Amino acid sequence: MTLGGDLKPGDPIVILTGAGISKESGLATFRDADGIWAKVRVEDVATPEAFRANPVRVHDFYNARRRQLQEAHVEPNAAHQALARLEREWPGPVLLVTQNIDDLHERAGSRNLIHMHGELLRGRCEDCGTVHDWPGDMSLSSPCPACGRSSVLRPHVVWFGEMPLEMDRIYAALDNCALFLSIGTSGNVYPAAGFVQEVKLQGTGHTVELNLEPSEGATLFDETIHGPATRVVPDYVGRLLNAHAAA
Ligand code: APR
Repeated sequence: MTLGGDLKPGDPIVILTGAGISKESGLATFRDADGIWAKVRVEDVATPEAFRANPVRVHDFYNARRRQLQEAHVEPNAAHQALARLEREWPGPVLLVTQNIDDLHERAGSRNLIHMHGELLRGRCEDCGTVHDWPGDMSLSSPCPACGRSSVLRPHVVWFGEMPLEMDRIYAALDNCALFLSIGTSGNVYPAAGFVQEVKLQGTGHTVELNLEPSEGATLFDETIHGPATRVVPDYVGRLLNAHAAA
């Protein structure tokens, strides 16, 4: 079996990423010892109920993360760059599905990208439904650029209890991919944690986990490669492209 299972040039590849791919860019993960949920409760900042109960606290939480994301030292790392290279050089479709709300994949050059948990640098009006780029702070007095109303804007981020975005498109890609890579995610949160089973049950894809340490779902993968993303992802992408260029 060559690298990537029975992958042939032209076959579709689907990639899932989580917070671990952005860790070496200086952004905290959620469930590591120094993660975000070790410092603030999900129930206080990442549910619709939290936003209704205390919108100021929720806006403060996302404003701080928006500012941090735009700090000069926060840049795409070698893992983000490697996935953009794979999309450019692989002779077939490459779909990148990220749970991350940062913009590091875009800044690395990835284009065929789905932010299934939304985007930190965008806001959504709860009244007229429009979505806007929003790099600055957001508050209750921020007016919606489309309808002009205030106290109706929220971060365009999927909270716990809400439906992730573009799920039909994601499942269609999982069911038809020849290779599924899961990178930098703990496998704690569904539906993303179930994508590997979707590939195995509904599709025929070869599944690979690339993570610092075994995730909750590690035993479900055909292959597991453990180490920091900036080492294991560029290495894997380079070997995959070389193996199939030579073929
Ligand atoms: N390289 C590769 N993997 C890493 C690195 C690294 N340098 N550092 C940490 N990791 C791994 C951790 O071992 C862990 O398995 O990244 C994973 C991060 O897991 P989580 O913190 O749970 O983040 P994620 O899986 O993206 O969380 C999923 O949960 O809170 C929600 O909406 C939030 O999108 C998020 C979702």
